[in-house]
Amino acid sequence: TDNISSIMVIFGGTGDLTHRKLMPAIYNLLYDKNLPENFCVVSVGRRDKTDEIYRNEVYESIKKFSRIKIDDELWKNLRDRIYYQKFEFHDDDGYSRLKDFLKALDDRYKTNGNRIYYLAVAPEYFELIVEKLHQHGMAENEKSWQRVMIEKPFGKDLNSAVYLNKKITDVFSEKNTYRIDHYLGKEMLQNIMVIRFANVFFEPVWNNKYIDNVQISSSETVGVENRGGYYEKAGALRDMIQNHMLQLLTLTAMEPPIDLTTDSIHDEKVKILKSLKELTPDLVLKNAVRGQYEGYRDEDRVSPDSDTETFAAIKVFVDNFRWAGVPFYIRTGKKLPVKSTEIIIQFKPLPGVLYFKEYGGLMPDLLVIKIQPEEGVFLQFNAKRPGTLNKVIPVRMDFCQNCQVGMNSPEAYERLIYDALRGDSTLFTRWDEVEYSWRFVDKIAEVWKNNKPDFPNYKPGTWGPSDADELLLRDNFKWWNIGGFYDENI
Ligand code: BG6
Repeated sequence: TDNISSIMVIFGGTGDLTHRKLMPAIYNLLYDKNLPENFCVVSVGRRDKTDEIYRNEVYESIKKFSRIKIDDELWKNLRDRIYYQKFEFHDDDGYSRLKDFLKALDDRYKTNGNRIYYLAVAPEYFELIVEKLHQHGMAENEKSWQRVMIEKPFGKDLNSAVYLNKKITDVFSEKNTYRIDHYLGKEMLQNIMVIRFANVFFEPVWNNKYIDNVQISSSETVGVENRGGYYEKAGALRDMIQNHMLQLLTLTAMEPPIDLTTDSIHDEKVKILKSLKELTPDLVLKNAVRGQYEGYRDEDRVSPDSDTETFAAIKVFVDNFRWAGVPFYIRTGKKLPVKSTEIIIQFKPLPGVLYFKEYGGLMPDLLVIKIQPEEGVFLQFNAKRPGTLNKVIPVRMDFCQNCQVGMNSPEAYERLIYDALRGDSTLFTRWDEVEYSWRFVDKIAEVWKNNKPDFPNYKPGTWGPSDADELLLRDNFKWWNIGGFYDENI
């Protein structure tokens, strides 16, 4: 169809993100017949390369990173539609040349002047590139559409985010600004609302009358790898909590929207962010735990006395009618035992008059939403153990999405690029979501900045500092083991 015909211009075309995620995603979209026929890609980078050399590099990346085996016929179809342009991001001549080049491509590919500008660059270039696009008359116009996709981090605190947002929205309107949180592109995140609002057995108990606590964990086994320079200034709080973790919390806690339009959904999400109980300095010291793995300070481009946290665990309350009194524990970290993202809903115990006393306590009912690497939903509840002894044991019902529905769910970036092409910004973060999550996170960052941590404080391959366990033990809870073994906690 006509209106999705477009040129995607990737700034940062030689970078890691483009090679690992964007190009494989574009190839997969083509494979799934979701790429417009009238479409081409222009990558802008600062290194010197011919189209030929660039295309070969892209081929290698797709071969390595795509979930789909590369097919030579299909690749040929895409290959000739990928171009490379070299210039520095401040270079006016570069933009003039790009503009003419895109016009010529419009004629060739019938792309109508429609553009997606993907900023896959370091954040210090966001403002510059947007300004240059504007100066060169390449930003919004009335005859066609122009959208900008921006990678995280969107600012490093509220002030810088406000500033950046102003610079961008001076040029692109909110509806053409696509702020990426790649977690929103993950299948199971999109599934949270469906599970909650399309099933009679979840929604009625989804509140403080029946839920004891919610645990949202996203753990990684890797360290900072080659991103020390960026990570030093970010840390787990800014890198993961401000965006991905708060998005998970928001989707878990939000009220049903009045309909499924973009704004209705975003309205409900923002309400949750607004109702997060403010962490006063005292509460930060009590309810926010940070950690740094042993060896982090020896990593490349990391300061030998770095105070950057590679682990964070925070207890938060959503202070509204549905959730008052229910703790949400969120934790994330690098160099933990498994790579896994899960939401675990722990239900309240029933009155302990029947089985409880005699059997020394029952396992609580759990609902587990598995985001990755397995995708699925799983329910743990109590049943009688077969045999003569009247024992009660926890059993599970397990819905494995990537086993049952099909192994190859599209990757986050496929979905996000596809949606940007269609002009659907539901799975992107609206400005006020960014704003309110920074408001919350800034309070923690400030207290942490003013109190020196005792780092390093956890060994690689463990679940972070012991204070993270204390956080729950104080409330008579425990972190459930994630990654598949829930009964170990009995
Ligand atoms: C990114 C963070 O946003 O998310 C990284 O900057 C982190 O530090 C990554 O590793 C995790 O994403 P995923 O999709 O692998 O869970």
